[in-house]
Amino acid sequence: MAEATKERGIWSGKLAFILAAAGSAVGLGNIWRFPTEAASHGGGVFLLIYLVFAFLIGYPVMMAEMSIGRNSRKNPVGAFKFLASDNKLYMLIGAWGVLCGIMILSYYTVVAGWTFSYVFEELFHFMGMAELSNWFGDTSHGINNALFSVLFMSATIAIITGGVAEGIEKATKTLMPLLILILIILIGYVLTQEGSAKGLSRYLTPDLTKINAEVIFAAMGQAFFSLSLGMGAIITYGSYLPKRENIAGAAAYVTLFDTGIAFLAGLLIIPAMFVAQSNGITIFEGGGLKAGPALIFQVLPNMFHNIGGMWGMVFGVGFFLLLSIAALTSTISLLEVVTAYAIDEHGVQRKKAAMGVGSGILLVSLFISFDISLIGTLDLIFSSIGLPLGGFLICLFVGYKWGPQDAMAELEVGYDQFEKSIVRKAWPVFIKVLAPLAILYNLVSTLFGTF
Ligand code: TRP
Repeated sequence: MAEATKERGIWSGKLAFILAAAGSAVGLGNIWRFPTEAASHGGGVFLLIYLVFAFLIGYPVMMAEMSIGRNSRKNPVGAFKFLASDNKLYMLIGAWGVLCGIMILSYYTVVAGWTFSYVFEELFHFMGMAELSNWFGDTSHGINNALFSVLFMSATIAIITGGVAEGIEKATKTLMPLLILILIILIGYVLTQEGSAKGLSRYLTPDLTKINAEVIFAAMGQAFFSLSLGMGAIITYGSYLPKRENIAGAAAYVTLFDTGIAFLAGLLIIPAMFVAQSNGITIFEGGGLKAGPALIFQVLPNMFHNIGGMWGMVFGVGFFLLLSIAALTSTISLLEVVTAYAIDEHGVQRKKAAMGVGSGILLVSLFISFDISLIGTLDLIFSSIGLPLGGFLICLFVGYKWGPQDAMAELEVGYDQFEKSIVRKAWPVFIKVLAPLAILYNLVSTLFGTF
């Protein structure tokens, strides 16, 4: 095992792993998907249910994925093959994860392309070049979308080709704190603007009468998406985790960090939506959010343009640049899953694997570039449904096939106080009973309600 580990590469230590996993978790899910979902599903109620899902379901599932990864030292498909060598069918859980990863990455790349394109939209706006600014800001422009998807995928492939640690570690360590700083400053600004109070109260006051199957389903999907769970990204990252590290602790950091940033992003973007509304931008239509996937790309520039002058430019350009980097540390984790699968299971070289699967996925992105309404459909199938389904199967696998005893033996490695910990008592109950029941109930009630 040690040999195999050496060949596959390994994180330099705990911080590197936490940063990489946090880099995977923090991305468009926090700043693009979370606020939009929250705004269209009752605000405060959504936030509340999302937090419950993140900590009570997401956190235990994250520990499960990390243990599977570190114990097997494999990609998701190989991991299930390794842990259930008597029955090949379990491999399908990993295969479903790889498929979800491919499809999520395909539309994620297009949205990530928008964030990078908006760096230029802002730059040219503040340089007074309206025409160029509008070109870069046109999210329905196929050629523009395609161009930026190519750029974004190329950057992702370049980093993945270099191996696991280097690029991800550096990008996350220095730039994530900057993103948090800029979020906090902008929250301070937006809360002084007219209209923001309405947004703030919508975000922070949970109206419990608004709880329904749809809100719960959306919050569950968001928790899985934001924490990068349910498709084996964390299995893959866990497969590079040294034995001396404490899984329960690392997973707790990642969960706290990711939900913290999502919370901050909501504090900025939902009030900013209402400020934009009082500036004449239509954000709601017939009870729902109007512009769908491109909404925040109208709302945020509106805010930066209102700040105006040099600071408007600094924040506008800086924000989209940092968001692009946060998105990049997420696309890396998605592509790494598929690449690790090609390397482990088909013996392809890392460089060839990354370029091969990356270009294949890019073809799908190019297709989406010309019809962005596909984003919503793909997101529903592969994130909102696909990830909780994957999480459900992972729970059943750990709870009833691999077995909580063996899984806990892995959790115990690197965790001195494990025997006395609450994790030891509570985790098996969550993995065997609570998490799978909650997920199943939501999936079934929504699927029968929707279709
Ligand atoms: N969690 C990332 C975000 O919030 C997206 C992401 C990266 C992801 N890897 C994933 C989502 C794996 C699901 C599964 O932007």
